[in-house]
Amino acid sequence: PSESSGGQLKIPWLYLKRERSFSRSSGQQCITFSYCTQTDCLFFFSWEKVGLLSGISLIVGTMIGSGIFISPKSVLANTGAVGPSLILWAVAGIISTLGALCYADLGTMIVKSGGEYYYIFEAFGSIPAFLYSWMSITVSKPSSFAIISLSFAEYAVTPFYPGCVPPQMPIKCLAATAIVLITLVNSFSVKLASYAQNFFTFAKLAIVAVIIVAGLVLLAQGNTQNFKNSFDGAHISFSAIGLGLYGGLWSYDGWNQLNFITEELKNPYRNLPLAIIIGIPSVTVCYILVNVAYFTVMTPTELLQSSAVAVTFGDRVLTPATWIVPLFVVFSTFGAANGSCFTAGRLTYVTAREGHMLKILAYINVKHLTPAPALIFNGMLAIIYIIPADLTTLLNYFSFSVWIFYGLTSFSLIYLHFARKDLERPVKVPVIIPVIMTLLSIYLVFAPIIEQPELAYLYCTLFILGGLIIYFLFVHLRFSWTRTLMNPITKHIQLLLEAAPPESQI
Ligand code: ARG
Repeated sequence: PSESSGGQLKIPWLYLKRERSFSRSSGQQCITFSYCTQTDCLFFFSWEKVGLLSGISLIVGTMIGSGIFISPKSVLANTGAVGPSLILWAVAGIISTLGALCYADLGTMIVKSGGEYYYIFEAFGSIPAFLYSWMSITVSKPSSFAIISLSFAEYAVTPFYPGCVPPQMPIKCLAATAIVLITLVNSFSVKLASYAQNFFTFAKLAIVAVIIVAGLVLLAQGNTQNFKNSFDGAHISFSAIGLGLYGGLWSYDGWNQLNFITEELKNPYRNLPLAIIIGIPSVTVCYILVNVAYFTVMTPTELLQSSAVAVTFGDRVLTPATWIVPLFVVFSTFGAANGSCFTAGRLTYVTAREGHMLKILAYINVKHLTPAPALIFNGMLAIIYIIPADLTTLLNYFSFSVWIFYGLTSFSLIYLHFARKDLERPVKVPVIIPVIMTLLSIYLVFAPIIEQPELAYLYCTLFILGGLIIYFLFVHLRFSWTRTLMNPITKHIQLLLEAAPPESQI
C-alpha cells in the first residue's frame, strides 16, 4: 500500500501516467508507471480531454483501415449482385451503430476505461471476463494485426504483378516483415510510431475522399450501367449473408473504440452517444459511396476477379497518377496495423498486470518505457497466424471470435437492465436494442458455420474454451510449480529485453 502524493507526468503520445508515492513499508519514495487506456488511434493522444470532435475522429480513424479496400469482394461474392451488396454494407453500418449504442449505455453506466472486460466482469463475474481477455490477447488482437498486415502486403505487391494475381509467398513474406518492423518501432519508440500515425490517418482519409469524388464524377457522367438490374444474379441465402456480413463488419470494426477512453471524455453523457451517432453513420455513407465508385468502373465479375479492387479502380480512373491508390492504401493499412499493434500491447500489458497473463508480459522496457514483451508476444502470434492461413480464413476466424463476445457484452446489458436496477444509467438505450444485438450476434456466430463448416471455427472454440484450463491452473489454483518453472524463463527474457516490472523504487 502506498500513499499517492499526486503528480502526473504527461507524455501525451504514450499516455503513461507517472505517480510519485511513498511506500509505507520502506519509507522510500516510489515512482509508479501505469498505462491508462488502450485505443488504436494514437494521434488523439496529444489532446487534453477528448471532446466531441476528437471523439468522432477517434471512431472514424480506427474504423477506416484495410477493410474497405479488401472486403467489397467477399461481400459481393456472398450476395451475388450489386444491389444486395450495397444493402449489406448499409446493414453492417446499422449493426455497428446499434452495437455502439449498447456500448454507450454500458460505458456511461460503468465508467472504467477498459471496455468489454469490465462490463462482462460486472454482469457475469471473473471467468467470462477472463475468457474475453484471453480471446482478445490470443485470437482477436494478433489475428487482426495479421489481417491488416496481409492487406497491406497485398496492396504493396499487386502493382508488381500487372494483370495477374500475385502469388502468396511474397505477400506473406512482406506481411511478416511489416509485422516485425511495426513491432520493433513500437518497442523502441512510441513517439516515432505516433508521429507516423498522424500521417497515415491523413492518408486514409485522403484516399477514401479521392475514390468517392472520382466515383461521383463518373456517376454524374452517366456511368450507371452496372446499377441497372442490380438485383439480377443475386443468390441470397440466410447463412451466406452471415459470411458476407463478416467481410463488411470487419471494415466497421473499431466502432467500440470510444469505450476504451470513457474516463477521458469531456462530458461523456452527451459526447459518447453523439460521437457514435455522428461518427458511425458518416463512415457508413463513405463506405457505400466507395462501393458505388468501384461499381461505376467495374462489373461484378471484374470486381470479383480483381486482387486489389482499389488498384483496379485507380488503374481505370486516375491515369496517369494511378500509383496514388496503391501508395495511399499501403499507408492506410500500415497505419491501421500500427494502431492495432499499439492497442494489443496495452491490452496484454494491462491483463498481465492484473495477474491474468504471464507476469513477464506486464514488464516494461526500462530504456524506452514501452511494453516490449507484450508487443513482441503479439507480433509473434500474428506471424504464426499468417503462415498457414489466408486473408479470408483469418477474417472468419477473427469475426467468429469477436462476435461471441460482442454478443455476450450486449447480453450483459440486458442482464444488468433487469438485475441491477441500482446502477445509474445516464444514457439509457431501449432494451430492445441489446436484444436485437444479442440475437444478431447469435446469428453471426452460427450462420457461417452452417454455410461453410470449417475446422477453423472448431479450433477457435476449443482455443477459447482452453482458456478455462489456463484460468483454473494459473489464476484460480496458482500452483507454486508454475512459478518455479517460469522464474528462470522470466529472468532470461528480462535480460534479453531489458524489461522490468512497472513499479520501480528509487
Ligand atoms: N475496421 C478496421 C479495418 O478495416 C479494422 C479494425 C480492427 N479492430 C480494431 N479494434 N483495431 O482495417
